[in-house]
Amino acid sequence: MDTEREGREKADIERDAAGSFGERLLSWYEVNRRYLPWREDPAPYHVWLSETMLQQTRVEAVRGYYERFLRELPDIKALAGAPEEVYMKLWEGLGYYSRVRNLHRAAQVVMEEYGGKLPRTAAELKKLPGIGDYTAAAIASIAFGEPVPAVDGNLLRVFARLSAYEENIRLPAAAKAAGVFYRERMPAAKGGEFNQALMDLGACVCLPSSQPLCGRCPLREDCRVHKLRPGEELSLPVMPAKKERAIDRMTVFVIHSGDRTAVRKRPARGLLAGMYEFPWAQDWLSPEEADRWLRGQGTEALRIMPLEDARHIFTHREWHMRGYEVWIDSLQEERTPFLLVTAEEIRGRYAVPSAFSSFLARIV
Ligand code: ADE
Repeated sequence: MDTEREGREKADIERDAAGSFGERLLSWYEVNRRYLPWREDPAPYHVWLSETMLQQTRVEAVRGYYERFLRELPDIKALAGAPEEVYMKLWEGLGYYSRVRNLHRAAQVVMEEYGGKLPRTAAELKKLPGIGDYTAAAIASIAFGEPVPAVDGNLLRVFARLSAYEENIRLPAAAKAAGVFYRERMPAAKGGEFNQALMDLGACVCLPSSQPLCGRCPLREDCRVHKLRPGEELSLPVMPAKKERAIDRMTVFVIHSGDRTAVRKRPARGLLAGMYEFPWAQDWLSPEEADRWLRGQGTEALRIMPLEDARHIFTHREWHMRGYEVWIDSLQEERTPFLLVTAEEIRGRYAVPSAFSSFLARIV
């Protein structure tokens, strides 16, 4: 290491060691905060939308979606009045689609019961569809300055290391303990910045699965695991393995009739509710079984070609998919129970989950 850099790091360490926990964290944040579009104009709707998109989803994946959503539906009123197909299409590919359904329902409640403005406290926000403890605290602190910790995965991990918390981090008791820990250290007037500083610290320094960058951490002097087991910070948090996912074997059909393709709408409840999908059958079918299944649907194949297998992993399930590309005669069209749509209509109007993206590539 060159001496200039060494000198700089030493100066950083001395500066970092000064002040309270909150002061050190916030001066680190001032210099190191990430540029994120929703931070530039933290209007309540912007914070609400971004925090909802960021649940279970990486910041990098959200950026483009966030900007496009705001362009199409710039305020709560526009969202409340948007048809299902519009907001589902804007969410296409982000996953966890119940988030956008709840967002839409909550926007309607805000219009009808709150005069079009989001309530300002975490306790009130939690009454809205889709807003749980984390999102309520994030909106209340970032948009309205309420000093409440927004305990997400980053804050939980950072807490576990700072306080050498050896219990299972997935249990509700851990989030509660983290909330108490942070509340004691949160400056009353800077709740939003404090929360976001911890999120950035978790994302950029106190890393989840590679060795954390403790040399750059403004809180290393406060960190119990760093003091107790230096070099072994990754041993925390304690996170017992999740349950194994259920595996669904299925056979997906890309059925062409002229320049149109068969899709169907999924049921209104459950996984990927109300989205559009290619017709599929349970289990892996041989070409002969596929032919028989198609006849059972009132459709006769002129030609069937196998496609490459595909997999999609959800939180609790995995889809292991075999695929066939099928051509039917236009005479058979009246008999299919499916909707026949053009590639352009799929692109512009029908939201198809990314589980089907390798099959979708056959047509769009
Ligand atoms: N993850 C979730 N919300 C975030 C935010 N406001 N800033 C950074 N990362 C986040």
